[in-house]
Amino acid sequence: MEKKNIEWSKLGFEYTKTDYRFSATWEDGEWSPGELVTSEYIQLHEGSPALHYAQQCFEGLKAQTAKDGRILLFRADLNCERMRNTSDRLSMPRVPEALFLRGVTEAVRANAAWVPPYGSGASLYIRPLLIGVGSNMGLRPAKQYEFRVIVCPVGPYYKSGGLSVISLAVSDFDRAAPQGLGDVKAGANYPGGLYATRKAQELGAYEALYLDAAQHRYIEEAGSANIVIAAKGNTLLTPKSSAILPSITRRSIMDIAKHELGMHTEERPIDLRAEIDTFEEVAACGTAAVLSPVGKLWYDGAWHHFYGKGETVGPVMQKLYDILCQIQRGERADPFGWTRAVAL
Ligand code: PLP
Ligand code: COI
Repeated sequence: MEKKNIEWSKLGFEYTKTDYRFSATWEDGEWSPGELVTSEYIQLHEGSPALHYAQQCFEGLKAQTAKDGRILLFRADLNCERMRNTSDRLSMPRVPEALFLRGVTEAVRANAAWVPPYGSGASLYIRPLLIGVGSNMGLRPAKQYEFRVIVCPVGPYYKSGGLSVISLAVSDFDRAAPQGLGDVKAGANYPGGLYATRKAQELGAYEALYLDAAQHRYIEEAGSANIVIAAKGNTLLTPKSSAILPSITRRSIMDIAKHELGMHTEERPIDLRAEIDTFEEVAACGTAAVLSPVGKLWYDGAWHHFYGKGETVGPVMQKLYDILCQIQRGERADPFGWTRAVAL
């Protein structure tokens, strides 16, 4: 199969129209079998709850090409489980695991020519979407839904590219309320962050870092990624909060730290003011962000620097990044059973 003629190494994190997308619809309690379609447009009723009341959610995962040409999916079952939790919270029908995985697999297989080649530094981003369609003016769940899986080849999420150092600015705004939607992947969690991100960027940071909404004291997460922190005593810390998105990348990194690097791992509330001076290395992590070391943090009117004056990647984050990427690309034994080849 011939790959598309693309400068893979120049890709950013942008939409590219690929050849096929998978679409299934739900009505009267039943999912349609689903099929590959070519149009990038969705016909939506003007009264659809996805438009009026943001009854919509999404997922994000990646496929990578291994050295031997296999296309590897990373922990797709966990994206399915998370979409199920999100859909329960938003009163949407669950996408059955078999349908979710078939949608992902078929969309990847049909667009195999768009999967970046091994060694290109790029990957195929997979975006499952579940939206409430059909007319509905009152605040009620939709009567019809579409499950769609689109895929795009992508490069690094942050403009600095690859494994390079980014910066964050603590936001005065809140991302999510303690008993709100922060722990599910509802699209509604994101537009509020656009303004907070702009404010962070005006300060020279890449993204906003949110603190807990109740006390503005504990670290929550960045606008599009969770946070991990290397601290004294060979420890990897990550915030515990019921208002952050449970990142699949973070869970994987914590497991790598514990089982592959023998680190002590802790998921607990992290008091920024009280603990910032103990942080040795900080990183943002997520499917799009992969592992992006945070060199400096704007907090309380000043920049706080981490490893290497905030300019070089620290040894812990470098190791975690290498192991994660090696597993994702099939370059290293996968003792956890996280990757799965797409049958071509
Ligand atoms: N936090 C937010 C707000 C996100 O949008 C994402 C991206 O999915 C993450 C964290 C990272 O989650 P994951 O590692 O599952 O992609
Ligand atoms: C992802 O990392 O998959 C996300 O969904 C984050 C998004 C804001 C790009």
